[in-house]
Amino acid sequence: MSSTGDAETTQLAPEAGEIPTNSTVNRRQGFGDGFLSTISTGWADRPEILPEPREQAAFTARRRAAVSAAFPGKRLVVPAGPYRVRSNDTDYPFRAHSAFAHLTGWASDAVPDSVLVFEPREAGGHDITLHFRERADRTTAEFYADPSIGEFWIGPRPALAGVAADLGLATAHIDAFQGSDADLVVDQDADLTRFVSELRLRKDEYEIAQLQLAVDVTADGFDDIVANLAGIVEHPRGERVVEGVFHRRARSDGNGEGYDTIAASGPHACYLHWTRNDGAVAPGDLILIDAGVEVDSLYTADITRTIPVNGRFSEVQRRVYEAVRQAADAALAAARPGAKFSELNAAAWRVIAHRIEEWGFLPVSAEASLDPATGHHHRRWMVHGTSHHLGLDVHDCAQARRELYAGGTLEPGMVFTIEPGLYFQIDDLTVPAEYRGIGVRIEDDILMTADGPVNLSAAIPRTADEVEAWVARLNP
Ligand code: GLY
Ligand code: MN
Ligand code: MN
Repeated sequence: MSSTGDAETTQLAPEAGEIPTNSTVNRRQGFGDGFLSTISTGWADRPEILPEPREQAAFTARRRAAVSAAFPGKRLVVPAGPYRVRSNDTDYPFRAHSAFAHLTGWASDAVPDSVLVFEPREAGGHDITLHFRERADRTTAEFYADPSIGEFWIGPRPALAGVAADLGLATAHIDAFQGSDADLVVDQDADLTRFVSELRLRKDEYEIAQLQLAVDVTADGFDDIVANLAGIVEHPRGERVVEGVFHRRARSDGNGEGYDTIAASGPHACYLHWTRNDGAVAPGDLILIDAGVEVDSLYTADITRTIPVNGRFSEVQRRVYEAVRQAADAALAAARPGAKFSELNAAAWRVIAHRIEEWGFLPVSAEASLDPATGHHHRRWMVHGTSHHLGLDVHDCAQARRELYAGGTLEPGMVFTIEPGLYFQIDDLTVPAEYRGIGVRIEDDILMTADGPVNLSAAIPRTADEVEAWVARLNP
C-alpha cells in the first residue's frame, strides 16, 4: 500500500454519504460513531524500554565525524528516501538509501522518509539529528485510519527515544525538519554524494563481519539450489525455481537479495543480465547463477557459480570453465595492497585472451588483443570488467572518483569481486559450434588485508572438480 502518509491517507475515511474525491479510497467504508468513540481507548500502556546501542553505533559515529569534518559550516541532509510506487497504491518494499544506512546504522528497520541532518554549530562541528515520522498516539486518525502507516494496521512503529538509544543519535520528529535551498543533500550535491561514496571504499571491522555473514547466507542459498536440482530440472520454468529457492533463503535468513538473481541455464548464461529466469534447466546444460543475499544491515554478497545440471562437465564445458577459473586465480594473484585496481582486470583478460588464442578463434594474437587501443577482440566473449567494490550496494562506492576507483589502488579494508567469465552466444558464428551456447562466470567476494587478499567466499566450491563433487554430495 502507498505509504506516503499524505493528507488523503491520514484523514478519516469518508463519512456516510460523502463522495470520495480520490478513486483509491472509493472502496473504503466510513467509520460509525461507535467505532470512533471507542477505538482510541482500552489499550495497555507501552512502557518505553530503551535498548542498548546496537553494535554498529560506535562505527557510525566515526563515519559521521568524518562527514562533519569534511563540510565545516555546511548544513547537510542525508535522506533515507521514500517508498516508490510499483503500481497504483502498491509500493516496492522500502529499502533505505545506502548512505543513510551507512551513517545511521538504521538499515532494514529504517522508517521511510527519514532524514539525517548535520546542523553546523557556531563553534565548529555539527549537531547531528535523525528526523523521522514517530508513531502517532492512539487518539489520532493516523493510528486507526491510515492503512499505510497507522500502527493499528502495520504493527508497532518506533518512538524517538528508543531509536535515539538504539542508534546512539539525537532524534526529532520529521515535522521539525525544514529543508533550505542552501542545504547540501546527498544525491543532489555532487561533492557530498562523492564524499559519502568514497567514505565506503574501505570497510571497518563491523562491515567486514556483515559482508562475511552475507556471503555465508548466500553460500547456504547456493547449497539449497544444488540440493534441489532434481525438482528444478522437472519444472518447465526451472530457472524460476532456482530464483525461488534462493529467495526463500534470502528472506528467511537475510533481508532479501542485494540485486535481482540471475538464473541462466544453457545459452541464457551468455546474456549477462538474464533476470527473466523463465527458461527450463536441462540436463547437459550449465546453469550460471549470480545471486547475493542482503542481510539485515543491508550489506550484500555477490556470488556467481556455474554448475553442470547433470553433475558432470562435458569436455568442452570443462575446458571453458577451467579457463575462467584460471583467469580468476590470476586476478586473485594480482591482488595485493598497493596494486592498481585495474591490474586485476588486466590479469584476468590476459588469461582469457591466451586461452582463446590457443583454441584457435581469436582473430589476432593474444598480445595484439590485449592492446587497449587497437585490440580487445577477446572482449566479444568477456565484455565486462573483472572487479567492482562491494558493500551496502552490490556496485558499491559508485560515485567515487575514477582515480580512486578504476584508477585507484587496493588498500586493506577494501572488499571487491573477482568475476571473470566467458560467454559464447548460441548464434555466434565466429566460434566453433562446440563452444556455442556455453556461458561461464565464477565470482568471488574478496577482502584485502595488509597480508594480502582473503576470499570471503572460498567455502563455496570453485574448481570444476569441486563443483562436480558438490553436486554429487548434495544429490546422493
Ligand atoms: N551481480 C552483478 C554483478 O556481478 O556485478
Ligand atoms: Mn559482481
Ligand atoms: Mn554478480
